[in-house]
Amino acid sequence: MQPSRPTLQSERLLLRPVAASDTDAMQSYRGREDVVRYLTHKPLSPAGMRARNARSIELWGAYPAELFNLNFVVELLGPDADGDAIGDLRVWNLLLDGSGPASEKPSIFWIGYAFHPDMQGKGYAREAAARVIRWLFAEHAASEVRAIAFAPNTPSIALLEKLGFQVFRTLDADPDNNTPAAVHLRIDASRWAARAAEPANTPMRTESEES
Ligand SMILES: CC(C)(COP(=O)(O)OP(=O)(O)OC[C@H]1O[C@@H](n2cnc3c(N)ncnc32)[C@H](O)[C@@H]1OP(=O)(O)O)[C@@H](O)C(=O)NCCC(=O)NCCS
Repeated sequence: MQPSRPTLQSERLLLRPVAASDTDAMQSYRGREDVVRYLTHKPLSPAGMRARNARSIELWGAYPAELFNLNFVVELLGPDADGDAIGDLRVWNLLLDGSGPASEKPSIFWIGYAFHPDMQGKGYAREAAARVIRWLFAEHAASEVRAIAFAPNTPSIALLEKLGFQVFRTLDADPDNNTPAAVHLRIDASRWAARAAEPANTPMRTESEES
């Protein structure tokens, strides 16, 4: 049985379920135009962030379940640890509004993330994404993990490609809706396992999961 509130640890980071008390820290980056430029929401006000987190907390309440949509907050471990969110990730095979599966099979999961600009360029986003993806393959029998990125979002595409994701679909720009071209990327379980077995991709320290 899955722990109902998984807490995942990597070398430098702690990933835990989002809480109402994370609103200020998360709004400090999800409220910024430069952070949300390639996300599906506009800069969030404190009220908007509170509402988004309330929905995320509600979605955690339904876990464990075959279909889920989970928002993990990322905190630093070690001497700089203060419990504040430096970024967050969402993983899902259930649409955010709960209306149904996000893809053709429940074993296909999607991932999305945003980090505070002060915490970018340090490899934290990639480390956190790697940890949660490993959890999806190991604990949720994921067959495949996918992500969407707008074509100009090169930091996100670079992060995914460094983890072994490959583009499998390209979407044209939609000038009517002011939407840039986009790519869909994915990695399947066998590619993930093969890469994990390569010495260069082995974590330096044992990672852990706590309930
Ligand atoms: C997408 C996003 C999370 C990428 O963040 P990031 O910090 O650039 O990504 P990574 O964690 O992969 O960090 C990579 C950088 O850290 C550097 N780095 C420093 N220390 C490192 C370490 N110990 N390990 C790995 N990389 C390290 C790398 O060299 C790399 O920098 P470079 O690109 O200049 O070579 C960030 O740009 C963001 O939050 N954007 C706004 C939201 C968004 O667009 N989300 C994605 C929607 S698809």
